Amino acid sequence: MSTSNTFDDKVVRQFAVMTVVWGIVGMTVGVLIAAQLAFPELNFDLPWLTYSRLRPLHTNAVIFAFGGSALFATSYYVVQRTNHTRLFAPALASFTFWGWQLVILLAAITLPLGITTSKEYAELEWPIDILITIVWVAYAVVFFGTIAKRKVKHIYVANWFYGAFILTVALLHIVNSLEIPVTLTKSYSIYAGAVDAMVQWWYGHNAVGFFLTAGFLGMMYYFVPKQAGRPVYSYRLSVVHFWALITTYMWAGPHHLHYTALPDWTQSLGMVMSLVLLAPSWGGMINGIMTLSGAWHKLRTDPILKFLIVSLSFYGMSTFEGPMMSIKTVNALSHYTDWTIGHVHSGALGWVAFVTIGSIYALLPRLWRTEGMYSTKLIDVHFWVATIGVVFYIASMWIAGLMQGLMWRAVNPDGSLTYTFVEALKATYPYYYARLFGGLLVLTGMFIMAYNVFKTWQSKTSDEPIAIAEPA
Ligand code: HEM
Ligand code: HEM
Repeated sequence: MSTSNTFDDKVVRQFAVMTVVWGIVGMTVGVLIAAQLAFPELNFDLPWLTYSRLRPLHTNAVIFAFGGSALFATSYYVVQRTNHTRLFAPALASFTFWGWQLVILLAAITLPLGITTSKEYAELEWPIDILITIVWVAYAVVFFGTIAKRKVKHIYVANWFYGAFILTVALLHIVNSLEIPVTLTKSYSIYAGAVDAMVQWWYGHNAVGFFLTAGFLGMMYYFVPKQAGRPVYSYRLSVVHFWALITTYMWAGPHHLHYTALPDWTQSLGMVMSLVLLAPSWGGMINGIMTLSGAWHKLRTDPILKFLIVSLSFYGMSTFEGPMMSIKTVNALSHYTDWTIGHVHSGALGWVAFVTIGSIYALLPRLWRTEGMYSTKLIDVHFWVATIGVVFYIASMWIAGLMQGLMWRAVNPDGSLTYTFVEALKATYPYYYARLFGGLLVLTGMFIMAYNVFKTWQSKTSDEPIAIAEPA
């Protein structure tokens, strides 16, 4: 029986479990497309299994289904614990769960059918866009409503990050999805040409900044101190981190459009703001890692902390690499190559997936009132399998990317190209095999996690809701 003295955790449990499910689905599709790049026969000559249709299925599944479910689960958990109150409008929260699952289902049907707006990370067609907007507004009402009825004066910094993520994603989604429907499954963007590109990458980069970063920083600021058993290294730095990050991200989008028809000054502005972004990103990374100072020994025995701390290391790596890649002359080499793919996955797998996995491992035993996860040993196995997998993935893509960039630009003394495109492609194959191997390891880790989650669920002792007065 849930009462006014207990937390609303049903929706947290639902989203947490679906995080693992969608993680497996999204990464399975990732492994399949990695295999298709290595062995093109795996397209099977079936339109709905071609790389072009499965790639957006992968990105949507990992970002919005896996990442999204993790963000919903942890934000609903954290906002209740840090504000000492239950969720505002629990029925609406439940609606966000079912609504979001419907969005994912519709994505899984329409993308393989080839129904797409063709805007990256915003591929879903207009009826689904409307559904996303409705679910997102409901999410904002639940989240901010809960903060409004908080029982403590101070709003803990994790909520600021979650709040910025929720508001900004609403803005990005609505502005970038403005489109004119022509049939139920086809629409045209209201923007054209360079303006369309600019709006799209304002959206795309801030999807990285707010969906794949700010929300997960909210997760980091709650679960790292919790798991380390220590307060945040510097609370003041976390507030500076917040304001600096959200102010800077908004301007960096044009680094996706270097050397295009976009006005040159916007490209340069995007580059400069991307370089500035290094500072708040590293401020946050250092703040997270230093939270462990005085408790480093815990890393020896707690694989959940390993996931969280290694995620921060990947965050630091990818936010160093990103500003470098946004320098125009560096981008001239990296753009179109697998270097970008390596960068993406050091951020998305190393940072986003690892902080998610660590947080879900930390969350579930608290929700199910178990001593801990069923097996700490298996979390450790998961950690090592996944870490080796990510390293295989990103190292192979870095080497492949640099090689491709250098081969494409190599010229003979007479000015002709030294290598044909096919020669560069053939040279990339060994790295595609290595990436596939890395992806398989990461996916294996997710199956180990699913088993551990299932066994933990089986051993849960009570279904009684958790009292607000209980220590979180
Ligand atoms: C088993 C794990 C994974 C594997 C094997 C995998 C594989 C792939 C492959 C093969 C591509 C296409 C690369 C290309 O076009 O050359 C890709 C793209 C992408 N993946 Fe993954 N992926 C995995 C996990 C993830 C996760 C967890 C996320 C996000 C949280 C993610 C986000 C992305 C994004 C954003 C792209 C598009 C990159 C771009 O357009 O530059 N992936 N992935
Ligand atoms: C300071 C932070 C960062 C900066 C300045 C930055 C910069 C860049 C640059 C310059 C590119 C290549 C654009 C191109 O040549 O097309 C890129 C691509 C990308 N980055 Fe980052 N990055 C940062 C952090 C991250 C993080 C933490 C993630 C993931 C969590 C991430 C995800 C991506 C994705 C998904 C793409 C590929 C976009 C596409 O073409 O589809 N980035 N980033």
